[in-house]
Amino acid sequence: MRVYRPESGRLVQREEPVPEPRRGEVLVRVRATSLNYRDLLILDGDHFTNGPGSLIPVSDAAGEVAAVGEGVTRFAVGDRVINAFHANWIGGRLPAAETLRGYGNGQDGWLAGYRAVSENALVALPDRLTFEQGATLPCAAVTAWTSLNGGTPLGPADVVLTLGTGGVSLFALQLAKAHGARVIATTSSPEKAAKLTALGADTVIDYRATPEWGKAVLDATGGHGADRIVEVGGPGTFAQSIVAAGTHHADIALVGFVGTGGAPVDFMDLFRSGATVRKIWVGSRDDTEDLVRRLAVRPIEPVVDSVHPFDDAGVAFERFRSRQNLGKVVISGA
Ligand SMILES: NC(=O)c1ccc[n+]([C@@H]2O[C@H](COP(=O)([O-])OP(=O)(O)OC[C@H]3O[C@@H](n4cnc5c(N)ncnc54)[C@H](OP(=O)(O)O)[C@@H]3O)[C@@H](O)[C@H]2O)c1
Repeated sequence: MRVYRPESGRLVQREEPVPEPRRGEVLVRVRATSLNYRDLLILDGDHFTNGPGSLIPVSDAAGEVAAVGEGVTRFAVGDRVINAFHANWIGGRLPAAETLRGYGNGQDGWLAGYRAVSENALVALPDRLTFEQGATLPCAAVTAWTSLNGGTPLGPADVVLTLGTGGVSLFALQLAKAHGARVIATTSSPEKAAKLTALGADTVIDYRATPEWGKAVLDATGGHGADRIVEVGGPGTFAQSIVAAGTHHADIALVGFVGTGGAPVDFMDLFRSGATVRKIWVGSRDDTEDLVRRLAVRPIEPVVDSVHPFDDAGVAFERFRSRQNLGKVVISGA
């Protein structure tokens, strides 16, 4: 089978044997994968790794069951599946050291023709979603789901603030709108603003044209501010997010750090906001199953920017790195 492994910051394709599923394992024929910010960090050597040698990259995949090992009961040959982002987190609290076993940084990931994993590390993919759409779910969509559904449940009258047009933020926008919430979204260009409006954003703020966008959120909500903030910008955005939170005990899902150069966070601003800050770790398999069940009942179309052939995985990575993409960058199976 064909696989990619990184060598000196470049993806190199190799031929390797198809793995044999052991007892309790399922052999998945990978039909599509999708990229996340962490995949760039890992390729560039900017993410901790904890595995032997050069690990197969990419954490998110959809495929079909090609064979099952002895004792497997959850899946049969031909079933359509996606992986859970964390292979060993079924529910409850994140198991200790699970982040050291991540796909691509602690064990081989999914940019390969086949992958054998525990049957417990997989979730059934509903028929209404294509493999390309399914591959967009394990990291970005589940993160958006837990950002909105962890802590206090999302209320239909809540104001949700999303930042930028990355994978997590677009799913958060779509899921929040499907729930009936009001969404305020930020972005950096008029073209992307138009796309956010088309996806249902009620208010869009250009964070480059309006550096004090936290104040703009307050203005747009009559001084109330956002009830829930999906915080993907980190150092570049957190201080403005605190402003946008107002003073009414907002829920801030602390997701990522794509932004740079923001002002330091003033402790008293955070204190006065009354905000609850929750660190997100994507989500468990239970969270992934809840999301998939929800999508089967109330569908949303994952936004796919582009689908690249397996042989062009390097092009897919460059497309994602360019930030010209709007939506998930997908790579077809080998
Ligand atoms: N904690 C977790 O469980 C978890 C899970 C998933 C992801 N993450 C993290 O969350 C972050 C987002 O991940 P992703 O995969 O969605 O990233 P992504 O798709 O690479 O997001 C890129 C987008 O971020 C936006 N952006 C950059 N700087 C910004 C700023 N200052 N303000 C607002 N938006 C800004 C840009 O949107 P515009 O082009 O519209 O400006 C850009 O297109 C990453 O840091 C990732 O590591 C964490």
